[in-house]
Amino acid sequence: MNHKEVGRLWEDNAEAWTKLARMGYDLCRDKVNTPAFLEMLPDVSGLSGLDIGCGEGNNTRLVSRRGGKMTAFDVSETFVRHARNTEKEEPLGIRYCVASAVELPFADESFDFAMATMTFMDIPEQEKVVSEACRVLRPGGFLQFSISHPCFCTVKWHWFRNERGEKYAVACGDYFYPPEPEVEEWIFGAAPPELKDSLLKFRTAYFRRTLSDWLNLLLGAGFVLERFCEPHPDEQTAQEHPYVADMRLVAYYLIVRCRKAKRVPSSTAS
Ligand SMILES: C[S@@+](CC[C@H](N)C(=O)[O-])C[C@H]1O[C@@H](n2cnc3c(N)ncnc32)[C@H](O)[C@@H]1O
Repeated sequence: MNHKEVGRLWEDNAEAWTKLARMGYDLCRDKVNTPAFLEMLPDVSGLSGLDIGCGEGNNTRLVSRRGGKMTAFDVSETFVRHARNTEKEEPLGIRYCVASAVELPFADESFDFAMATMTFMDIPEQEKVVSEACRVLRPGGFLQFSISHPCFCTVKWHWFRNERGEKYAVACGDYFYPPEPEVEEWIFGAAPPELKDSLLKFRTAYFRRTLSDWLNLLLGAGFVLERFCEPHPDEQTAQEHPYVADMRLVAYYLIVRCRKAKRVPSSTAS
């Protein structure tokens, strides 16, 4: 499978995804992942930023409201259409376009920062995605991205439950040698059953690599690792939204911030 085939899957998902996410059913994003992502994000006011795989633009808008001068793109035309329509209704100065993270239509060193929320693990050509992100960043600029946690979101995944049926631990397997990625069907679990039944399930593929593969990929592209976070809900959030409560047991997500190395001045290079 390549990024174009994956892009077609996402185009087919985009209408239902936008509808459900905008109704508030992407609870893992809205209550756990994005709050942690924003908390970890450095001050972006006045900085030019690129959102890679922006979907319908929810997180782009949140970063734009923090002062980032945002450009955002997605491989799916439908997602970009929804994002642009919202931009027309509530203008924030965000520029949207359709593009693939594998071949960015931007000049070298054109952004102060780049971000990607839950996109990189969906694209098979991850080396190219990371090197393209590095290319379009100015030296000293940062990339912050979230992915499914490489260590816990394995193909083999089994919950252990106590005598009351409550989850308390997970068994993970197939970490080092996952099988070939397959298209998985799912839908936001927090949505009401009648709504879920009225929509086609999402079809996505997940391209797994180990934690050390991810970190070495970033180092090899010329990034310096800067900060990490494994988002999980606090007790109050888990009580208010029981759907995300088991995210207090193991890390579902990993957020990484890395920075493009600054050029060494030529007078001191040797
Ligand atoms: C899990 S969704 C996340 C969307 C958004 N970042 C968010 O957090 O709401 C993954 C996104 O990656 C996009 N995507 C997948 N492959 C892509 C590619 N090659 N280039 C750009 N976007 C891509 C999908 O269309 C989808 O919008």
